Amino acid sequence: MSEPRTLNVGLIGAGRIGSSHAELIARTVPNAQLVAIADPVEGVAARLAEQLHVPAAYTDPAQLLADPQVEAVVITAPARFHTGLVEQAAAAGKAIFCEKPAGMTLEDIDRVQQAVEAHGVLFRIGFNRRFADGFPQARAVIEAGRIGTPQLLRSTTRDPGLANPAAVAPWTIFLETLIHDFDTLNFLNPGARAVQVYAVADALVAPEYKDAGLLDTAVVTIRCDNGAIATAEASFSAAYGYDTRAEAFGSGGMVTAGDLAASTLRYYGPEGIAVDTVRADTQSMRGAYTGELQAFTDTALGHPSEGPGVEAARDALRIALGCIASCRTGAPVALDVVGAAR
Ligand SMILES: NC(=O)c1ccc[n+]([C@@H]2O[C@H](COP(=O)([O-])OP(=O)(O)OC[C@H]3O[C@@H](n4cnc5c(N)ncnc54)[C@H](O)[C@@H]3O)[C@@H](O)[C@H]2O)c1
Repeated sequence: MSEPRTLNVGLIGAGRIGSSHAELIARTVPNAQLVAIADPVEGVAARLAEQLHVPAAYTDPAQLLADPQVEAVVITAPARFHTGLVEQAAAAGKAIFCEKPAGMTLEDIDRVQQAVEAHGVLFRIGFNRRFADGFPQARAVIEAGRIGTPQLLRSTTRDPGLANPAAVAPWTIFLETLIHDFDTLNFLNPGARAVQVYAVADALVAPEYKDAGLLDTAVVTIRCDNGAIATAEASFSAAYGYDTRAEAFGSGGMVTAGDLAASTLRYYGPEGIAVDTVRADTQSMRGAYTGELQAFTDTALGHPSEGPGVEAARDALRIALGCIASCRTGAPVALDVVGAAR
């Protein structure tokens, strides 16, 4: 029997999540090999490449895209660069895995779609919660009709800390944090579309940064075209760890997914029962990140495996943009005015 083929992957943007994805590609994802890393900050790509025994390091993503060894790219640069990098990677004929969001506007998503279609390349977006323990199983229960008609859905992201409020770009809570929850709600309400959103947000963790545009706490209500009402909620500072959970309640039952216990260890003592909690996405989502990168690799190697693409990127971003409009007006926003009518 012949050896399974390996996908040669290049990573663009070696920051916090890029370093984690790089390590998973280099050491954990089957049939993937990390062959190049690019980051514009001098020394950043070279240091990570040395640590992971990756043969090539570049300061310009264009050099990585011109490297004939690279068959596929993982884009983990800051969000505002994603659309342009996807266009360049598609033009270079690379399969593309892009961290969320794929763009900052719906026009950006149109550009992504045009690029991947014009060049016939694979595109996947990093909505990792679809691969997190409990979430695909919850969707399977819902698809089997076991919760009946979906009526109430909820999804929560609570990050463990806000280290540097000054570095958080305005609207990040919707465009980069709650976008996971919007995708989760879409995933757990198959076939339905969000039609209206109402967002309430504030800077409760670091109020002194509110005038600079910081929003660190938000609740979003979403009405869907199958009648279901959903809520998404986020905080940038949960004292107890990294907390991501979802729930779908219907006429016939309910499913929940997500758990912040770090392990099955329970300490039983004089004060009660204690459970360690996960403290970072790179800890609790390690399996999900591996799963999404594996599905991408398998698909790029010709063994199709499900994962979110351009439409999922568009559907979640549309809700995020609706939230921004809702915050600006203080009123519910019909999503057809932010592109639902496409
Ligand atoms: N799916 C998840 O759970 C998850 C978690 C964290 C971050 N993210 C997403 O990943 C992206 C990166 O986030 P991060 O926290 O790692 O950011 P980061 O700032 O830690 O890292 C970004 C890296 O990209 C580099 N960079 C800057 N401009 C670039 C360019 N034009 N081309 C290539 N590289 C460039 C920077 O030098 C830096 O090393 C964001 O879109 C974010 O929303 C996703």
